[in-house]
Amino acid sequence: MLSKSCQQVHELNFSDVESEVLTLLSRMTIEEKIGQMSQLSGDGCIVSKNLRKAIIAGHVGSILNEVDLDTINELQRIAIQESRLGIPLLIGRDVIHGFNTIFPIPLAQAATWSPKIVERCAKIAAIESSSSGINWTFAPMIDIARDPRWGRIAESLGEDPYLCKTLANSMVKGFQGDSLSDTNSIAACAKHFAGYGASEGGKDYNTTNIPENELRNVYLPPFKAIAESGVATFMASFSDLNGVPVTGNNWLLTTVLRDEWNYSGPVVSDWEAVPQLVIHGFAFDDYDAAGKACTAGIDMEMASDCYLKHMKHLMNNNVISLDKIDSVVKRILTLKFNLGLFESAITSPNQPSNSLNTDHLSIAKEAVIKSCVLLKNDNQILPIAKSAINTLAVIGPLADDGYEQMGTWAFDGKENQSHTCLNALKEVAKNAFNINYAVGMETTRCNHHDGFAEAIDTAINADIALMFLGEEAILSGEAHCRSSIDLPGAQEQLINVIHATGTPIILVIMAGRPITLEKIISKVDAILFAWHPGTMAGPAITDLLFGVESPSGKLPVTFPRTVGQIPLYYAQKNSGRPPIDEKYINIDNIKMRAPQTSFGMTSTYLDTHFSPLFPFGFGLSYSQFCYTKIKLNNKVIPMGGAVEVSATINNVGNYNAEEVVQLYIRDIVGNVTRPIKELKGFQRITLGKGESMVVTFKLHTDELAFYNQQMEYKPEAGLFHVWIGGDSSTTLKTEFEVTD
Ligand code: BGC
Repeated sequence: MLSKSCQQVHELNFSDVESEVLTLLSRMTIEEKIGQMSQLSGDGCIVSKNLRKAIIAGHVGSILNEVDLDTINELQRIAIQESRLGIPLLIGRDVIHGFNTIFPIPLAQAATWSPKIVERCAKIAAIESSSSGINWTFAPMIDIARDPRWGRIAESLGEDPYLCKTLANSMVKGFQGDSLSDTNSIAACAKHFAGYGASEGGKDYNTTNIPENELRNVYLPPFKAIAESGVATFMASFSDLNGVPVTGNNWLLTTVLRDEWNYSGPVVSDWEAVPQLVIHGFAFDDYDAAGKACTAGIDMEMASDCYLKHMKHLMNNNVISLDKIDSVVKRILTLKFNLGLFESAITSPNQPSNSLNTDHLSIAKEAVIKSCVLLKNDNQILPIAKSAINTLAVIGPLADDGYEQMGTWAFDGKENQSHTCLNALKEVAKNAFNINYAVGMETTRCNHHDGFAEAIDTAINADIALMFLGEEAILSGEAHCRSSIDLPGAQEQLINVIHATGTPIILVIMAGRPITLEKIISKVDAILFAWHPGTMAGPAITDLLFGVESPSGKLPVTFPRTVGQIPLYYAQKNSGRPPIDEKYINIDNIKMRAPQTSFGMTSTYLDTHFSPLFPFGFGLSYSQFCYTKIKLNNKVIPMGGAVEVSATINNVGNYNAEEVVQLYIRDIVGNVTRPIKELKGFQRITLGKGESMVVTFKLHTDELAFYNQQMEYKPEAGLFHVWIGGDSSTTLKTEFEVTD
């Protein structure tokens, strides 16, 4: 058996594959067909007797969570040589933001607004994981996430459908390469289809209720986009969508995905989601659950065995037809052919993974540099001038923790391969200044103050207190939701006591979600939001802090002031009574028996602002960009035509820097109400200090389309506002009209 890397992979064309699949299908027993629909968990570096037996009997189509190359090769060998038909296995793994080289979490990658970086990170993850024998990743996760309490926001690409679909396409391209059969390509998976991000109360696995119009305009577009651009597989969401759990949701999995979108790849359930239909109260027992899931459109069951146990019975009882099973198995076999597994499923031990090599690390570093978002920088305290300091106090539990900086879903990253900020700072400090380090708190969740005295001492004797705070990896990700999104534990108190020393504070936050910062923002001079940056946190963040690079990350999600504002996102609807200005009512100033209408009657709060602390798209630079001269090539655009919108961007600051230029529109009148702003384009540009550039976006009227009351997807004639700027609060605006 030749390995995939050392043979000429014979490219099969579509009809070749189809006929190979049909021939194979005609030789399969019912049991072997059902086996293909089953994905079992690996045993971890061994092949248990049971698993061996199941593979030999043809009762397994896929294994997940096995990463040891020898074990994977042995599993494939058993499948190929010892099962009757020699059908190779799909080997799945959550390669979410890197394999051995850990890149910034997906939410951080979204903050790069760089399709190129996102594609390169995925490509490297594919190179490293495919060298271990993995051929399928469960990524990208493209659930629109507008609730930062939800722990899985960390895995998402943020709140906006346009940004999400653009970056999701790049991620799929990175994983899948030019052809799935290439040595280093792995199949991607669009998950979790669909609406999972709308879990009520930001609590994982919870109910979602999403009107069809909102589902189609907000939650489905990224899925539709990557279905069209060729993502190899889909995963159904755990959640209950409008009363019908997705795992049993015929409308979503068949009417929309198959009939409307013509999607032809396999759909896998989420982990044990088939038997969970019973727990949802949607199926009576596992037999009923298997029947409902398969009927709805789940092709492969992950981790549980309802299909294995009950599918034959369901067929005998005419609940599931042979035709249905054949069409499912065809999709699974087609994927295996497309991956080149029938030519070789064995991965050569000599295939270089290049894990953590210089190239991989340098892309990882670049990704961190581009993903960090500078939220505040009073008096230009950043970048730090080496020559201006004698002593730097480094404080906080995340300054020197190679594990926590990797974030959620970093199963295959290693703590001792992470470069921490403290270590990188020590390199920079050599012979230039002193570093005094105090952890301050053992973990981000500590509530006691035992480490405060040492931290205060360190700060008192320093020119700057550089604090590394935030959330440990375990505080975000699957099933890790929070009802408060303040800095946990005694971190705010630690900031307060350091602030009281009078030493200026630069705060670096590592976290898996937006954090509410209102209570401490006035106590610190600068905030660099670094998300969970992964392996190369230290060298990248140090380059930013010392001005080797200028921050250019932009928020892919709105930062609320307080948790009570959630859901808060920039693309809100106007309502009939929108808030008029930033007037803050302040509950403490309300006089007793104040007349009922005395504060106006608008959509706001008595006890906080209606606006976020930081809007979507926001991020400062060490330089400053001035946006002027928004122009259109035409004020009136016939339907079917395009408009060019441009603005001049000047770098008026003192640094060469990158900036993400953003284009927003508002459709003023619609058959259904439209958001007050919608992202329609972005460009990452580089401008030397003093330079200027005209940035032009071309917008076709097709890109103004939305689902209307009749669920037709089309643009409408009428007036449009259009903005260009550095974040979603931009006021640089003009308008055009679309005519029928
Ligand atoms: C998660 C999926 C993941 C799967 C396999 C589930 O619990 O929801 O996102 O791909 O496990 O690990």
